[in-house]
Amino acid sequence: MRASAICSLLAAATLTAAAHLPPRNYTSHDYYAIHLSSSTSPTELAVLLGLTYDGELGALPEHHVFKAPKHNGDIVEDAVQELKRKRRKREVSPGPHPLDSVRFTQKQKLKPRHWKRNIIPPRAGPPVTDAIKAQREIAQTLDIKDPIFEEQWHIFNVKDPGNDVNVTGVWMQGITGKNVTACIVDDGLDMDSQDLKDNFFAAGSYDFNDHVDLPKPRLADDRHGTRCAGEVSAGRNNACGVGIAYDSRISGVRILSGDITDMDEALAINYELGKNDIYSCSWGPPDDGKTMQAPGLLIEKAMIEAIQKGRDGKGSIYVFAAGNGAASDDNCNFDGYTNSIYSITVGAVDKNNQHPYYSEACSAQLVVTYSSGGGDAIHTTDVGANKCTGQHGGTSAAGPIGAGTYALVLQARPELSWRDVQWLTVMTAVPFGATSDWTKTAIGRTFSHQFGYGKLDAWAIVEAAKTWTPVKPQAWFYSPWMHVNKAIPEGAQGLASSFEVTEEMLKEANLERVEHITLTMNVAHQRRGDLSVELLSPDGMTSHLSTARRDDDVALGYDDWTFMSVAHFGEKGVGKWTVVVKDTKINDKTGTFTDWKLRLWGECVDPKIQKLRPMPTDHDDDDHDVLTDHPAHTTTISVPPSKPTVSEIPSDHPDRPVAQKPKPSSSTAPTETTAFEEPIIATASPTSSPSPTASSAPDTFLPSPFPTFGVSKRTQGWIYFSIGLIIVFCASLATYFFLQRRKRLRSARDDYEFEVLDDMEDGDDSARTGMLNGAAGGKRAKRGGELYDAFAGESDEDLLSDTEDEDRPYRDQDERIYDEKLAMREGSDAGVSSGSGSSGRRGV
Ligand SMILES: *[C@@H]1O[C@H](CO)[C@@H](O)[C@H](O)[C@H]1NC(C)=O
Ligand SMILES: *[C@@H]1O[C@H](CO)[C@@H](O)[C@H](O)[C@H]1NC(C)=O
Ligand SMILES: *[C@@H]1O[C@H](CO)[C@@H](O)[C@H](O)[C@H]1NC(C)=O
Repeated sequence: MRASAICSLLAAATLTAAAHLPPRNYTSHDYYAIHLSSSTSPTELAVLLGLTYDGELGALPEHHVFKAPKHNGDIVEDAVQELKRKRRKREVSPGPHPLDSVRFTQKQKLKPRHWKRNIIPPRAGPPVTDAIKAQREIAQTLDIKDPIFEEQWHIFNVKDPGNDVNVTGVWMQGITGKNVTACIVDDGLDMDSQDLKDNFFAAGSYDFNDHVDLPKPRLADDRHGTRCAGEVSAGRNNACGVGIAYDSRISGVRILSGDITDMDEALAINYELGKNDIYSCSWGPPDDGKTMQAPGLLIEKAMIEAIQKGRDGKGSIYVFAAGNGAASDDNCNFDGYTNSIYSITVGAVDKNNQHPYYSEACSAQLVVTYSSGGGDAIHTTDVGANKCTGQHGGTSAAGPIGAGTYALVLQARPELSWRDVQWLTVMTAVPFGATSDWTKTAIGRTFSHQFGYGKLDAWAIVEAAKTWTPVKPQAWFYSPWMHVNKAIPEGAQGLASSFEVTEEMLKEANLERVEHITLTMNVAHQRRGDLSVELLSPDGMTSHLSTARRDDDVALGYDDWTFMSVAHFGEKGVGKWTVVVKDTKINDKTGTFTDWKLRLWGECVDPKIQKLRPMPTDHDDDDHDVLTDHPAHTTTISVPPSKPTVSEIPSDHPDRPVAQKPKPSSSTAPTETTAFEEPIIATASPTSSPSPTASSAPDTFLPSPFPTFGVSKRTQGWIYFSIGLIIVFCASLATYFFLQRRKRLRSARDDYEFEVLDDMEDGDDSARTGMLNGAAGGKRAKRGGELYDAFAGESDEDLLSDTEDEDRPYRDQDERIYDEKLAMREGSDAGVSSGSGSSGRRGV
């Protein structure tokens, strides 16, 4: 019996590694893995220690498996220690011992089970922090079982508490977007997704690409709209995560997946304005740093229609993504959608409260919210029955978070107007630590061109909405056209021109306080990207309306382009507004500041007499070409202080964003008064005639080079008035011919860039079509513009395929690679469109 056992053991021992070990039974036996050098055979060791030899340990040379009936101690280790002890005490004879061959021994222990690789481990890191506990409690209270809720850091950030939209406290109050409809104007919306189907609102939806009722995603890359929709309105259910307004209705209008016209876009952008409350638009003209494009007149009118008729007259809410072109110096004021006074422009901040390299800055940006960057992105619904993504990003992902937040505001106070919503944003957005040009505004808020008034805080804005007194209707004041027609000095100086707004003017305009300002201007320049424009308000706030763009080589300057600023919310508006145009580069490209017109938009004084803004027409800005035809130019003659003044501003002006250049000595003195050498300008702004400063003027209002003729001020006035009239006439002629010539020249050079202002409504179409053809040589199929997701046109899988593993959670990926890929993408995008770009229509 025993001999046969030994025989079989020996046989086993001589077999190769291919021999199978007998099955182990961890209930009945202990197992030992032992590295045993060849001087002792396994059987010898087995006999010595009373073990059973099971066989070789797989392919490992000299490694063997032994077993013994279950026992508390470690038979092998104990024997080795015992031998050592005996040797120390010399209880054994010196010389070799079979146990000396044991190089390694390990009694086997059952270990925690491995996880299958298809299981995504729950959040790694510190066991369970207070933040995670709080998050779980909230989820439990609100009965949120959505599987990726804990990944949705933008909703509740457990890693960096506070770096989120602070919304769960709002949900706790039952404010979840009920009875509010947001419409995603995009590339479709997967209404069959389990995460969206219950909130999907077919009656507010349409497909303008395939001309069918349901905006179903059909192209392989039609995922953008669904992802945006998920951020707003993903339901509270067992699929993916939740939207910011998870009980809101969500509709979709599909325009980005094929060719459309201005007409289609106009139809789309206020589609079912009686049913949709919020339009969320995460797209726009190319963000290549050289495009300047505004919505055509039809689209502009469609937006105004929704502002005046939507939500029973309280106005539809438009949310636009700011744009992703910051890395190529793009600025959202070159985009007529984001710089419309009717849209809330939302930029991005990353999870570390830092500026993500792509998010554009501009004076028209109202607010920012969280999006991709800093190693993570937005986790939301994707196309598919139950598909999620952790890779939604860019300003595309920021806009819909804004839209969702506004849905909460509208549930709390449905009677608030579109302007109330903007006011609430201004009053409750939260500035944060990132370095930026944060500046205190006239009403004590803090504004940055990069982050607007700060980041959206859902709790703060909803709390404020509950008690907000609705603002009175919108009024406006338009200045006359200010004719400058002067060469712009190169370098850090600027050419300044001012207009004095008097209390009387605003009283007449029924305007109580400013909200938006828009400034329409013409600058002829051989290289548009060299230009920058600042606007200084009477309250001392500076808006950087335009900034230099290194890739913008267009030899046009600004052609009736309208810039917008939200930095003056709450200002009175009375006093001197100064626009400063700079030619920031010293090179052979120069230009002329032709003219400008300031518009102040804000709250009216008397709502009873306030009318709605008339619909804009093609001819709204035509008046500036014909000086004498405008009624504003025919009443009285201005006295110096109220005329627009032209001066070189000192090069050490504090607000300038451009690099300081050595200033030529000639520009040392601010010479506002030298402006009077342009008497045309003085007589061109008669609306400002009864200037309060006129009476305090000295004996002569003329600077020294002008003779006084030894007569009274009044007579001097008449003399100069007569001279002025003659000069005005000559200058008008000159200007007229100059403009005509300029138009002819430009049309000769580039047809499409000119039809914009001359013709009827189809002028826009041709302008746009031309522009699109010009940009990218017809490459762009999606005429609606770029998706603002920072990975536009490329699937995330492509972007991340190197590092992304289906079984790995996204946050594991190497952030550096991710950012580099995005940067590469950005670079190639910029290379694709040549985007000469017409300066398009006047904006809204
Ligand atoms: C393992 O050993 C236990 C206890 O001796 C016994 O009950 C069990 O049946 C054995 N399992 C196998 C698979 O042999
Ligand atoms: C967030 O919301 C809570 C209420 O839920 C509020 O007390 C808090 O001040 C808000 N802000 C931050 C930064 O947490
Ligand atoms: C939902 O909103 C509509 C207007 O959009 C309003 O007429 C209706 O009363 C609201 N219903 C509820 C339950 O609040």
